[in-house]
Amino acid sequence: MLVLGIETSCDETSVAVIDGEGRVLSNVIASQAAAHAAYGGVVPEVAARAHLTNLPATFEKALADAGVTLSSVELVAATAGPGLIGALLVGLSAGRALAFARGVPFVAVNHLEGHLFSAFLKADGSPAREIVTPFHGLVVSGGHAELVRVEADRIVPIARTRDDAPGEAFDKVARRAGLPYPGGPVVDRIAARGDGSRVKLPVGRVSDGTPDFSFSGLKTAMLREFARRGVSGQKLDPDALPRDLVDLFASFQRAIVSALLERVAEVHAGEGIRRLALSGGVAANTELRATLAGWGRERGVPLLLPDRALTTDNAAMIAWAGLRRFRRDGAGASADARARSRWPLGTE
Ligand code: KG4
Ligand code: ZN
Repeated sequence: MLVLGIETSCDETSVAVIDGEGRVLSNVIASQAAAHAAYGGVVPEVAARAHLTNLPATFEKALADAGVTLSSVELVAATAGPGLIGALLVGLSAGRALAFARGVPFVAVNHLEGHLFSAFLKADGSPAREIVTPFHGLVVSGGHAELVRVEADRIVPIARTRDDAPGEAFDKVARRAGLPYPGGPVVDRIAARGDGSRVKLPVGRVSDGTPDFSFSGLKTAMLREFARRGVSGQKLDPDALPRDLVDLFASFQRAIVSALLERVAEVHAGEGIRRLALSGGVAANTELRATLAGWGRERGVPLLLPDRALTTDNAAMIAWAGLRRFRRDGAGASADARARSRWPLGTE
């Protein structure tokens, strides 16, 4: 069984081919980061146009890299949400058209479900790890922070962010400091040489007793720290920052990692976590990976980590989540799926 996956929900145009055992045969990603860098964030209209331009070549390369032709594809999966409507429409329409032209089934995939199950995929071409339920999933990306419990037949939401997503906090704070976009990888690199215990920052949480995350207070605190240090958003060289700024960024990263760890620990103390799957763009973060892995080792909770190459937006994870959905539900529910800007995990 060969599955073609298409991802165009945000600023990465990606097409992948996987087989029935979850081997990633190809996973081509055309990043638009350069097109958005000048704006310090993703511009929806620019993204939609770039997907339209980049998709044909990305598609051709994905087939060529996998060494297959379209005629051997037996299932097409494309992201239908959540994401930017104009961007989603490009991949969704292309996926549906390809499936129709080939006479094979089409599945509409939830982007967050793609991230969630990406923790089971291997980037080296070997089969995916078996998905054993129940497990807890922490999806942290530029648009989301979601902690869920995955059972055999449903996904139960536990906590989500009320305001900024962690990746968004990385990107916005980096931008205000005059650092390149996207901010996550840049701050990750800076923080590696800093002391994250130097600056006390709020680990914000909501005050209504729910386990939800909140990162906007942290962002505001960082803007105050920038003001105090005279950081005004003029271009900064990430490799030539003064010591106190390096420590500030390390402390900022520590605050995000601590907030995520704290919630994971609470849920473990409550309902218990058998295994934890970390995913989403922020799952590439060095400190987050090491901290959660260390926490899990101490408690006998295995941490499932996607290879770094599979953490940010990619179509292999969409093909994989699509295949899982298809095997469970068939393609019926996708027949008239629309592009959706919102699509909470655990809802159909
Ligand atoms: O999953 P993703 O590619 O797109 C969304 O679905 O949002 O995540 C992108 C986000 C960006 O905010 C980026 O700054 C962040 O992931 N990111 C990181 C790292 N690499 C990417 N954040 C922290 N540390 C990293 N190493
Ligand atoms: Zn994503």
